[in-house]
Amino acid sequence: CLWVRNLRLKRRLPGPFAWPVVGNAMQLGKMPHITFSKLAKKYGNVYQIRLGCNNIVVLNGDTAIREALVQHSTEFAGRPNFVSFQSVSGGNSMTFSNYSKQWRTHRKIALSTIRAFYSANSQTKKAFEQHIVAEATELIEAFLKLSAEGQFFNPAHELTVAAANVICALCFGKRYGHDDMEFRTLLGSVDKFGETVGAGSLVDVMPWLQYFPNPVRRVYQSFKDLNKEFFTFVRDKVVEHRETFDPEVTRDMSDAIIEVIDKAGSDTGLTEAHTEGTVSDLIGAGLDTVSTCLHWMLLLLAKYPTIQTRVQEQIDKVVGRDRLPCIEDKASLAYLDAVIYETMRYTSFVPLTIPHSTTSDVTIEGFHIPKDTVVFINQWSVNHNPLKWKDPHLFDPSRFLDENGALDKDLTNSVLIFSAGKRRCIGEQIAKVEVFLFSAILIHQCSFENNQDLSLDCSYGLTLKPLNYKISAKLRGELLNGA
Ligand code: HEM
Repeated sequence: CLWVRNLRLKRRLPGPFAWPVVGNAMQLGKMPHITFSKLAKKYGNVYQIRLGCNNIVVLNGDTAIREALVQHSTEFAGRPNFVSFQSVSGGNSMTFSNYSKQWRTHRKIALSTIRAFYSANSQTKKAFEQHIVAEATELIEAFLKLSAEGQFFNPAHELTVAAANVICALCFGKRYGHDDMEFRTLLGSVDKFGETVGAGSLVDVMPWLQYFPNPVRRVYQSFKDLNKEFFTFVRDKVVEHRETFDPEVTRDMSDAIIEVIDKAGSDTGLTEAHTEGTVSDLIGAGLDTVSTCLHWMLLLLAKYPTIQTRVQEQIDKVVGRDRLPCIEDKASLAYLDAVIYETMRYTSFVPLTIPHSTTSDVTIEGFHIPKDTVVFINQWSVNHNPLKWKDPHLFDPSRFLDENGALDKDLTNSVLIFSAGKRRCIGEQIAKVEVFLFSAILIHQCSFENNQDLSLDCSYGLTLKPLNYKISAKLRGELLNGA
């Protein structure tokens, strides 16, 4: 009733006691998303913590998160002015910049470039799928080499190279070999990116830590170095494209973005530096997420061999053994899709979104949140809500299938991993195609085993990464290639 609502409005946001200087930083633990879910049980789905000198609102659960991101999409579309965000993509990132008219134009350009390259009637759609098939077959060869004589290996690096090559092919029309040392080194350092920009990163909430020797400063320094190295790599490629640009021929996404931003830039306030920032955003976002998803899938299939066999049986029945799976098979491979959604739900490998901030005063579930408040959005809490998911701690892909074996769309839409609202991931569609095709081809061609009991330990950051697990790949019959 109105009286209770007004009372809540006057109440301070609930939350744990915050210590001077550090606030609640020491209570986050190794897995902040789990801590946040536990705190939600005590304080409700909307509460406040303090990190350093920032008051931070944490949103948990489907209702509060959708009320914020969908119903109040503009008010929650901001990004905080964290120090780490300023070193991304030469300071001209779309992903890490705050809400503004210029940001809206920037996002529209990035989104429409992706759509132009991957829509039902775009000429590049087939080429994109073929890039994935080519990378998947290279990946299998690399896996088989690493599994020679029954050896076990950590697939993380090869998966990152494969995902990076798909996005590099889209952006630059170029791929790199699995043994290209320069590319491997570059990707090896990019791997550390998510540790610093993930929600709860200490240098962002206590920026003074960067001014005297301590472990946080060391991590932050290497974060700045890796951003510089990665951005220089991307900028050099964009500069080469600019020098050979032909308005009659769009070779790849870099050309498409040069065309829109460089040529029409003065009207929008965007500059050539934003062109470079956009390409860098797409490559950065497109490699870590897709490869981490595939990594978890392989580990889970190795851990649950009966699930692996069931996927293989369905693929063999639909595709046969004489050709590789293709995107047109997707409609007939509901169980594989169920495994993909369950991997996303169960691991919630992007446990919190990139931090948001409020663009004006706003009220959520009756609580007043002032403008410029940092907001953490706990996707993990949505995917592990026992009221929505039966036994959420169990890995059970069949939860997504109805009695006829078809995918339950209501349930798949309930998985929150690409966020929602104005900051929702712009790569969702191409990411889903990549994950589907890569996994269908890998599972069709190989069986995966592990040599230890996988307890699914991981490291926390923007993505949750599996720690040091080893698997082995065995060829299932004749090795096919996509040609
Ligand atoms: C943002 C998830 C793949 C491009 C995001 C966000 C999440 C996410 C959670 C943050 C949204 C927020 O802050 O509320 C994922 C997952 C992926 C994936 C789970 C793979 C399985 C990709 C790919 C691309 C991409 C392949 C592009 C090539 C972006 C961009 C943003 C973003 C540009 C920033 C959007 C903005 O700030 O407005 N993604 N993503 N993502 N993603 Fe993805």
